[in-house]
Amino acid sequence: MDVTITREPKVAKADHLFVLIAEGARPDVAVAAKSMQAIAASGFAGRADESLSTVAGEPKKITLIGIGKAESLTIRGLRTAIYSIAKMAKKQRDRNIIVVMPVAVPKLGAEETTRVAAEALAAADYKYDVYITKTDDKPLPIHAALVPPDAVDAKRAKQLDDEAKAIAAGVRTVRDLGNGPGNLVTPTFLGQRAEEVAKGAGIKCTVYGRREIEKMKMGGLLAVNRGSIEEPRFIVLEYAPRKAKKHVALVGKGITFDSGGISIKPAEKMEEMKFDMCGAAAVIGTIQAAAMLALPVRVTGVIASTDNLPSGSAYKPGDIITTSSGKTVEVVNTDAEGRMILSDALHYASELKPDHIIDYATLTGACVVALGSEAAGLFSNNDELAQKLIECGERVGERLWRLPEWDDYKELIRSEWADMKNSGGRWGGAITAALFLKEFVNCPSWAHLDIAGTAYAEHETAREARGATGAGVRVTIAFLESLSHS
Ligand code: BES
Ligand code: MN
Ligand code: ZN
Repeated sequence: MDVTITREPKVAKADHLFVLIAEGARPDVAVAAKSMQAIAASGFAGRADESLSTVAGEPKKITLIGIGKAESLTIRGLRTAIYSIAKMAKKQRDRNIIVVMPVAVPKLGAEETTRVAAEALAAADYKYDVYITKTDDKPLPIHAALVPPDAVDAKRAKQLDDEAKAIAAGVRTVRDLGNGPGNLVTPTFLGQRAEEVAKGAGIKCTVYGRREIEKMKMGGLLAVNRGSIEEPRFIVLEYAPRKAKKHVALVGKGITFDSGGISIKPAEKMEEMKFDMCGAAAVIGTIQAAAMLALPVRVTGVIASTDNLPSGSAYKPGDIITTSSGKTVEVVNTDAEGRMILSDALHYASELKPDHIIDYATLTGACVVALGSEAAGLFSNNDELAQKLIECGERVGERLWRLPEWDDYKELIRSEWADMKNSGGRWGGAITAALFLKEFVNCPSWAHLDIAGTAYAEHETAREARGATGAGVRVTIAFLESLSHS
């Protein structure tokens, strides 16, 4: 949806006016005063999930959306209300809508709430329709005017509008890449998209092919790639504004399809493994948004990409692989491929000596078992960074939950024949995966986000469509912004 934050919406032209109403609040909206009086007499209370629609004239329709008690409004509640608005508008084929938001999330205040709402609204009617050929099924574009709380003046509204657009663009990049099928979104395609995004955002992008990856001795990436006829890619994006004081490296897992390889996965839901490049997509989308926002922080994106397939040449259990760091890995499960490719990417990022490294990976089913789909697993060697990321997540509605990276568990990935094994088995699977990654990190401020549960929605929820969610972008932008303030 194309969203404009404005204090003066064109009411006469609107198909549908939506008003968010807190429980017990009077729906007093000047633009449709008469209808509002009628609505006030209707018994509508503003409870969350409650809505009331009426035919009005100018605008054609008015719908009140209850959001519950104003003092307990959360970002999630706000996103739910906004998603329901988009669904309604889509179904009713509205083309021009107005969304009046007289309230703010208490913890955020009027301005931040406005930005979150604008960005949520922009994403709310999203559908991956690249392969929908029936024109009837193609959604029509919707234009929305978002009227912020009174505390937001016109000048701030314009800035918030630009910011929301940048974040929405980054999120969209991630969703399109994530939802794209594995036969389209190959490592080569991912590299091309990274180049396009970089061009659009005016930043540098280098895409390395097999030869160069071999030269860099990236044994982990090459091992996983051996089963595939697709070439691997190693992608480096560089956003380096002159005024930057801090340097953050973002590292992404770009498995464009994960069959498990020789340790093959069961057929059921295997199609979901097209989402196994969502970490890489999050890196691309975040850098895109950071550049659009002109954040004064240097950001380097580092992506390793291949698919993971079985074939006569595939890597196999028992193989011992030498990674670019020189450390050796005994493969016990070819389905633990994410950490194999990340070993090389994290080593590469560490060599850049950034202030912080954050990696994004749909790394383990174990993390989904532990946390479900409402929070990403956070692992870090730095309490301050971990705390900051959790707080940033809270501010944008992306929950992170810290899990331990205690060395006691390292025993589980100890190998008789090599420096380590690539799997520690089922128990504590998200932790042993993080411990494996830690072996390749040489940076005192590193965080690993296991986004296996949050990167895509298996089913539509009250807040978002099925498919890739854009996980990672919002929280990381909030983190980069916090660095530029300090
Ligand atoms: N891509 C998967 C993890 C995954 C599972 C993501 C479910 C999203 C939903 C990863 O490569 C994988 O297969 N991990 C294994 C690790 C095991 C072999 C140690 C897992 O989680 O079972
Ligand atoms: Mn796997
Ligand atoms: Zn995987």
